[in-house]
Amino acid sequence: MATDERSPPEMQLETSIRPYNYYRNAVEKHWDPHEIDLEADRDGAAELPDPAFESLKQSLALFGAGEESVTEDLAPLAVVLEDIEDQLFITTQLYEESKHTDFFDRYWREVIHTEEKRRGQELSSPTDEQWFNEPYDELFERNERAMARLLEEDTPENRAKAHCHYHLTIEGILAQTGYYGLTLAYGENEPDLPDLPGLVEGLKLVRSDEGRHVGFGMAKLKDLVMNDEIDPDLLQETVDELVPLVQQSLTGDGGASTESGPGPSPSELSEYAYTKHQQRMQQITSASEAIPDVEQLTELET
Ligand SMILES: [Fe+2]
Ligand SMILES: [Fe+2]
Repeated sequence: MATDERSPPEMQLETSIRPYNYYRNAVEKHWDPHEIDLEADRDGAAELPDPAFESLKQSLALFGAGEESVTEDLAPLAVVLEDIEDQLFITTQLYEESKHTDFFDRYWREVIHTEEKRRGQELSSPTDEQWFNEPYDELFERNERAMARLLEEDTPENRAKAHCHYHLTIEGILAQTGYYGLTLAYGENEPDLPDLPGLVEGLKLVRSDEGRHVGFGMAKLKDLVMNDEIDPDLLQETVDELVPLVQQSLTGDGGASTESGPGPSPSELSEYAYTKHQQRMQQITSASEAIPDVEQLTELET
């Protein structure tokens, strides 16, 4: 047999499949939350009227705590996934969720605390109960339970529910929507609020990472649906149960966004979230639609 007709030797890694590609994309797009310049944000924070400063803290507390929760709750998936390429991907996600948590913590230390000192205020804590409402706590408790259940009973239904909680709802709807709203509020196009370019830069990098995470969850769900392991209705039902909690987390008493304040309104954000979610459900459940490639998942609309 001529050399070129031999099949290639088996290798350790399957380098043409999605989870490997996502892992590589994560490595190539590596960023350090401590390298983001926060100098201009300290100036911007000084221009915020009191209510806007409080509402910025509220948003940062909610998203910082959210990143901490998802960092803590992801591990069961790493235990149950069998393929090495999936493991490579999950290590990047765990690392990235840690960096997101670190980014919010650093922002509080270096921007919020600096500004509180300048205003002669007592230094606040991002973990203070005042920032969180009941629907928010409930949402994250349900996510934690959905993930932990994988360790007790690793069934297709439980995997589907875990991905629906974690990837489709918390990351796909809550985080993507909230970050999009904050980016608009503190970006260059909102005349009523000062620019916070370090925050916007960090959020861009976080959102790009989240695009990859959501894509991984979508691909896992699509496999379960296409292999007839779960009823596709389970996905919509699971997400529908959680959506009211997401909305109340962002807009309810102690939520991050108000209809009258500067930046996008809660109804605009809900519409954005709903459209994105419906698109994803189509891509998961319809055989003729594909999950967007990793470049598309991680690129951000302006
Ligand atoms: Fe994250
Ligand atoms: Fe994530």
